[in-house]
Amino acid sequence: MTSESLTVRDNRTGQEYDVPIVDGTIKAADLGKIRPGEDQPGLAVYDPGFVNTASCRSSVTFIDGEKGILEYRGYPIEQLAENSTFLEVAYLLIHGDLPTKEQYDAWVHEITYHTFVHENVKTFMQGFRYDAHPMGMLMASVGALSTFYPDARNIGDPENRHMQIVRMIAKMPTLGAWSFRHAQGKPYVYPDNDLGYTANFLSMLFKMSESKHEADPRLVKALDVLFILHADHEQNASTNAVRSVGSTQVDPYSAVAAGVGALYGPLHGGANEAVLRMLRRIGSKENIPAFIQGVKNGDEKLMGFGHRVYKNYDPRAKIIKKACDDVFEVTGVNPLLEIAQELEKIALEDEYFVQRKLYPNVDFYSGLIYEAFQFPPEMFTVLFAIGRTPGWLAQWLELTQDKEQKIARPKQIYTGARTLDFVPAAERWA
Ligand SMILES: CC(C)(COP(=O)(O)OP(=O)(O)OC[C@H]1O[C@@H](n2cnc3c(N)ncnc32)[C@H](O)[C@@H]1OP(=O)(O)O)[C@@H](O)C(=O)NCCC(=O)NCCS
Repeated sequence: MTSESLTVRDNRTGQEYDVPIVDGTIKAADLGKIRPGEDQPGLAVYDPGFVNTASCRSSVTFIDGEKGILEYRGYPIEQLAENSTFLEVAYLLIHGDLPTKEQYDAWVHEITYHTFVHENVKTFMQGFRYDAHPMGMLMASVGALSTFYPDARNIGDPENRHMQIVRMIAKMPTLGAWSFRHAQGKPYVYPDNDLGYTANFLSMLFKMSESKHEADPRLVKALDVLFILHADHEQNASTNAVRSVGSTQVDPYSAVAAGVGALYGPLHGGANEAVLRMLRRIGSKENIPAFIQGVKNGDEKLMGFGHRVYKNYDPRAKIIKKACDDVFEVTGVNPLLEIAQELEKIALEDEYFVQRKLYPNVDFYSGLIYEAFQFPPEMFTVLFAIGRTPGWLAQWLELTQDKEQKIARPKQIYTGARTLDFVPAAERWA
């Protein structure tokens, strides 16, 4: 028996088992060796929502939820948001290290070169209904890219993997911007490769008849920071979807389409929209105490507060709060900001929230910024998806090279009927 082990006594049989502990975990397969009889099933772990199950080893992102720490490849999010760019962070996530000047220039060049999509992608996007949700369009179009690059299924080839990663990071803003223009009935704008990644995205979103669209650099910087903040968050629901689908060895476009699908759900990417609805409903500062009382009575939730992992101030929320100032300097203050700030102040002093360790999360202020950019709420998750793409791909890349990974296939506890006798319809209905 090693000192790093768990001794389990099975009271059904009286037998004891030593289960090794490695990196603070035990292998579920080791528990499978615990069985009451030779022909009996081994012990399994029941964990809906994977609240206490590690699904992989990963060196991409570190989170300490108790302390409110988030690091990409070991670098604190605060430093990256302050001093880096989204494309440099994307390089870091994908390659594991910061780039040299030459590597960075080559990376930016590659990404910029691949921002255009095949004209048929445009034609097929134009086939969506006039009011199609941009997230549905994004999910479908990124999945459809697999048909334009059938070689992407050669996931064993490192060069091929790199090519698809570059393509996807480059093309997501194009697909996202076109999904936005579609709902507005405006012509799709082609990429402007003289512009940086985020400035080009803003140009594809908002350019009209002017020959060149150059957004205010403060807005470009703020959106770049928002992309950095969303770039990865270890094994969240959409990353888990990418890994789960990717574990079948499908091409990365299909795996990322699954991630976009997971992000589409209101429990994942949609909370910032719910925050705006809540702030609007509260309407003015005077109504906050009554609202808080309703939350404490269990009538509703304070949206944008609380997190499965963070039991402290979400470090991303702090950075976004600061970015609000820069954006509002250009666009004018969103009147809901005052309500949000007062709500935060009151909640952080209230015993109910303190006791449950409920702090603002990334969604509490991000909706306010997006609204200042004039994005409709349906676009919020599209922005999240563009930011999260390098993280999904870094995790997918790690998966493809991880010898311990298998096709994702959980067990179940079967609760249905057994060995019924089938009576044909003609007899049952006679
Ligand atoms: C994010 C969230 C789903 C995490 O859920 P979780 O880890 O399962 O936490 P729980 O639901 O177990 O919450 C623990 C306690 O805090 C309460 N709580 C959690 N979030 C709350 C909120 N936003 N407002 C009021 N109470 C909340 C729960 O009611 C529970 O109280 P109880 O112990 O009296 O039953 C949850 O905090 C939430 O719904 N927040 C609002 C939505 C949101 O902002 N989502 C974006 C996340 S980035």
